[in-house]
Amino acid sequence: MGRRTQVSASILDSDLANLSRETRLAVKGGANRIHLDVMDGHFVPNITFGPTVIKRLRPATRRPFDAHLMISEPGRYMDQFIAAGCDSITFHVEVEEPIEPTLLKIRKAGVLAGLAIKPATPLSALAPYAELLDIVMVMTVEPGFGGQKFMYDAAAKIGPAHDVFRDRPGERPSAREVHVDGGVNRASSPTCGAGHAEVLVVGSLLWKKGNDIEREIRAIKALADEARKTRSAPAPAGVAG
Ligand code: DX5
Ligand code: ZN
Repeated sequence: MGRRTQVSASILDSDLANLSRETRLAVKGGANRIHLDVMDGHFVPNITFGPTVIKRLRPATRRPFDAHLMISEPGRYMDQFIAAGCDSITFHVEVEEPIEPTLLKIRKAGVLAGLAIKPATPLSALAPYAELLDIVMVMTVEPGFGGQKFMYDAAAKIGPAHDVFRDRPGERPSAREVHVDGGVNRASSPTCGAGHAEVLVVGSLLWKKGNDIEREIRAIKALADEARKTRSAPAPAGVAG
């Protein structure tokens, strides 16, 4: 309701030799937050950076850092990601290790906790963790690389993803954010807005030669906000059906 669409800028395809500068450019261009894609070469066939780089980048901006961990063992490295200064930490529901203790650890540290789902994974996979989630990250590409095409069938999960959240009695209410990650551009942002996504991750588009970061972010936000206005909000949890 009322809330405007936020953009989290993914620096995956930026000039990684100048991460501080790129981060500041994204913020200057209107990015509300910074999306950090961590890949281990095991969960996905690509390797990027880890908590040490995030920690070194932290002073570049006061905007929130959203870590997106595409790694097989998030539990093993969680202390380091928390210590690196992430404001939210999202890992994948498809990992083959216990998920709940890691979500609890993130929340205990006062950091927003999220689970990401690959395009083929149903929302029902998140149900066991409903009370522990601040963020649901709907992947609209196969994780691993920037610059892929937006998958509209996966985007059908954006609206219903809002029904996943359940606050724990007696605990701080969840921030309840649905993030959409992968292939977000001017053509796909209305679909994200229509699903009332709170945060759109925008990556390669910002760093393409000749593209104006500010203009891209402004257009994507405006198109999403417009679609959000014209299409009604998804039914609140517990009301649908
Ligand atoms: C893909 C990453 C995305 C990626 C998005 O695995 O999780 O965050 O950087 O980049 P674009 O916007 O190019 O799809
Ligand atoms: Zn990502």
